[in-house]
Amino acid sequence: MGELPAAAVKRTAVVILLLAMTTSSLAATITVRNQCSIWISACQESYEKPATCFALRPKTGSRKLNVGTVWKSGVIWGFRSSNANVQQGILAKPQANLAELTLGLSKNAYNLPLMIHPTFTNGGVRQGLHCGSPKCTIPNLTSFCKPPNKLTGPPGNGCYNVVGPTTPSPTTSTLAFKRACPSSYSYHKDDTKFNPGVVYGCNNGSNYEVVFCP
Ligand SMILES: *[C@@H]1O[C@H](CO)[C@@H](O)[C@H](O)[C@H]1NC(C)=O
Ligand SMILES: *[C@@H]1O[C@H](CO)[C@@H](O)[C@H](O)[C@H]1NC(C)=O
Repeated sequence: MGELPAAAVKRTAVVILLLAMTTSSLAATITVRNQCSIWISACQESYEKPATCFALRPKTGSRKLNVGTVWKSGVIWGFRSSNANVQQGILAKPQANLAELTLGLSKNAYNLPLMIHPTFTNGGVRQGLHCGSPKCTIPNLTSFCKPPNKLTGPPGNGCYNVVGPTTPSPTTSTLAFKRACPSSYSYHKDDTKFNPGVVYGCNNGSNYEVVFCP
């Protein structure tokens, strides 16, 4: 399972990864909630299924995904929009922080505050990396996003890491993300080589929620 996040990073060329991986299996449900004061479109994509998107209303929007037998691993992302258009979602993906679940959480950019939170641990104790709740909240995107990283436009409206997560060591670009979100997977092999504390695992059979604006 250790290879999955790295593979996903390469595939998506993302920058900040928050990983919340299960050690061995599939989640039964993932609830995606929007606590932001704006409409967002949330999208999901797994290795098995192409992207689909859905709109989540401000403050209370929520959608339960039954992923038990379908997802081996996949990503969830969101962006400011009330239009759950798949093409827009695909365009927004490179600009968005990604919740990657193998269940886990991954990002190659930052646009919205995001958290993965286990709601049912199937007997597992929440302690540190075991069934913890990694999150990344950057209060001011404009002041955070300094060159060489750059602000992107709609539909994602994020801060894009120009170096990308495939670079095997931290760079000026990736370190900015790492400092802002220490529990995020911010560069290739972030977990194995430089920082062992970014890959989270839960018991088989756990349920999760992905929360925008936690
Ligand atoms: C965010 O940062 C920018 C640039 O430093 C600043 O102009 C703006 O006032 C800040 N916004 C908030 C809400 O603090
Ligand atoms: C995880 O749990 C499911 C449901 O209980 C079971 O079918 C599956 O075999 C388990 N996987 C592993 C790797 O233990």
